Order: sequence, then C-alpha cells, then structure tokens
Amino acid sequence: MIDITYYGHACFNANINGVNLLFDPFISPNPLAKNINIDSIEADYILITHGHEDHIADLETIAKKTNAKIISNFEITSWVTKKFNIDNCHPMNHGGNWEFDFGKVKYVNAVHSSVLPDGTYGGNPGGFVITSNCGNFYYAGDTALHMDMKLIPLDLNIDFALLPIGDNFTMGINDAVHAAKFVETNKVIGLHYDTFGFIEIDHNQAMNTFNKNNLQLHLLDVGKKIEI
Ligand code: NI
Ligand code: MN
Repeated sequence: MIDITYYGHACFNANINGVNLLFDPFISPNPLAKNINIDSIEADYILITHGHEDHIADLETIAKKTNAKIISNFEITSWVTKKFNIDNCHPMNHGGNWEFDFGKVKYVNAVHSSVLPDGTYGGNPGGFVITSNCGNFYYAGDTALHMDMKLIPLDLNIDFALLPIGDNFTMGINDAVHAAKFVETNKVIGLHYDTFGFIEIDHNQAMNTFNKNNLQLHLLDVGKKIEI
C-alpha cells in the first residue's frame, strides 16, 4: 500500500516505505490549497511532468527547503540547475527507466505542451510510471487520452492511476474512464480539476460515470490522505 496525500490541482505526495515523492508542486498560488503550509511538506524526491507554472510554482521553495532530488525530463532539470542553482537533479527522457531507492521510475508520453514560465523550452511533456514493492501506479501528468497508455500495462500491473479529469486543457471525465481501461486499473485518483473556471467539474457526474464503468474514482479533499 502507498499513502497518497492530495495538495490540490495536480500536486500530491506518495509515501512509499517512508520515502516521500512529491509531484508537480503548485500550492501557494492555489486558493483551494490555502490551508496547506508548504513549509510542512516533506519531500525526498520531486517529480515534474512538464514546465507549466501550475506544476512547478513551488518547486524552488520546496526543493531548497528539503534538498529533495528533482526528477524530470532533461530540459527541465537543466533549466532548474541553471535558474535555481540546484544540482540535485535526475534527468530522464521518454521510455527511460531508472532504479531509485524507493523503486523504479519510467518517464512516459503525454500529449500536451511544455514551456517553462520564462519562455524556455521545457522539452516534451510526460507522465511517470512508478514501480515499487508497495505497489505500482501511473501518474499521467497533463495529457489527452492517447493510445500509448496501452503500452503501460504490457509488463506490469498498475494498482492505481492518477489522471487529469478537468477537461479543456487535458482529458475530461469520459476520456479518463478510457484511460483507466487502457492502463488496466480500476482505481483512479482525479487531478487537475476545479482549480480555475475552465476546469470545474460536476463531482456527481464524475462519480456516476466511473461507477457505471465499474471503476472507483477518488476526488480527494485538499490535504486529505488515503492509503491505496
Ligand atoms: Ni500543463
Ligand atoms: Mn496544468
């Protein structure tokens, strides 16, 4: 089992055997996450899917406070080193795996865009597949539904997936149902919804759509922790 704590938008922490993985930190600019104190956030690793502000706003602050290792694509880790003077980075690119102390990370495709806040090219956007002895999961990042998701369960079982469901900038509810089926999991944690007007969703409709497809959807309150 893995402990997941939701910090709003697409940001959450996965605690694997006591190692904290923080994904796409965007907390201090998010009014829905105003009760989260970013100084209290623990991170051993910070994983970044792409360069957009709503995924990296608190990266510098949290990375400098925690000395966490930053895992992202080569373009983003290079930018982080130059811009923030942070060397503790692990660069990856699509299709690549690396074994860390908590388990294995694979950087996989996402269909989206990825420019950094100062206009620097952010490489191609991605998602992460995490394999560990506590469970395996897929964090899709910002993405459309795409056929490459079908490659993910070829060699492993995905226990749960974190998928964007807010529509407009990413997949919406219906495509997230297809995505869950593509990666062959029945447990989904929704991300990237309600933060701003373009991505507000009807929670009942989302829950019903997943239920009808025999899938379990978690729409976590900000700050909420679950074991999954
Ligand atoms: Ni984005
Ligand atoms: Mn986004």
